[in-house]
Amino acid sequence: MSAPTDGERLQKVLARAGLGSRRVCDDLIADGRVTVDGEVAVLGRRVDPEHDHIELDGVPVVTQTGLVYYLLNKPARVMTTASDPEGRPTVVELVPDEPRVFPVGRLDWDTEGLLILTNDGDLTQRLTHPSHGVEKEYLVEVEGVPSRGALRSLREGVELDDGLSAPAEIRLLQSRGDHAAIEMVIHEGRNRQVRRMCETVGHPVRRLVRTRIGLLADRDLAPGSWRVLRPDEVRGLYAAAGGSET
Ligand code: URA
Repeated sequence: MSAPTDGERLQKVLARAGLGSRRVCDDLIADGRVTVDGEVAVLGRRVDPEHDHIELDGVPVVTQTGLVYYLLNKPARVMTTASDPEGRPTVVELVPDEPRVFPVGRLDWDTEGLLILTNDGDLTQRLTHPSHGVEKEYLVEVEGVPSRGALRSLREGVELDDGLSAPAEIRLLQSRGDHAAIEMVIHEGRNRQVRRMCETVGHPVRRLVRTRIGLLADRDLAPGSWRVLRPDEVRGLYAAAGGSET
C-alpha cells in the first residue's frame, strides 16, 4: 500500500502534539517508533491528524484538535456528575463550560482531591476499564488507630460485599490518640472502595483525599482549582492505562 500524499507531515503533527521539536520527531519516525493505523511510519509520511490512529512506542498520541484534559482538585461537598437533579454543586461547574467535558471515574460527595475531566472518550474508557488498574493514591484519615493486623488485612485484601479487595499498598503515616492517617495505593476503582475497606477493618473514614492518579500528582493545585494537563501527562495516562491493548 502506498503512503498517502495528502494530509499533514507526520513530524509536524507529532511536534504539535508535544513530542518535541520537528527534528526530534523526525528521529522518532526514523527509529521506527511511530505507527500510523498499525503500520510503522516512514519519513515523509503524511497523515490526517483528526482520523488516523498514531502511536509512539505502542502508546496513542493525541493529535485531534478540540480534545481537552483538566486536572481538578475536587473540594468536599461537590457531586462528581455532569448535572444533579437536586441542584447540588457539580465538578463540571468548576471547569470551563466549553467544550463540554466529563469526569473520569468518580469521587464521593465528601471525597477531595484529584479528578480528571475530559472530552476524550477513548482515554476515559481506558482509564475506567477495570482490567487496567491505574494506581490511585489516597490520603485517608480514619477513626481510631489501626493495629498491625488491620493494616495487614487492608494490604492483603478485605472481604467486601462485592468480593475480596485486591492487594493494596498501605502505610501508616501518623497516629494521634483517636485517629490516624494512612496512605493507601489501590489499583481498583470500585464504588466507595476505600471507605468500605476501612470500615470493614473497624476504622471508618473521617476524611479522604485522592493525591495521585498514575503519575499525576499536584500539591500546588488548591481545592476547587484546575489546570490543563500537559501533553506528556496525557501520554503518561495513556501509557498507564494500557497503551494500545484495547
Ligand atoms: N474510594 C472511596 O471510598 N471513595 C472515593 O471517593 C474514592 C475512592
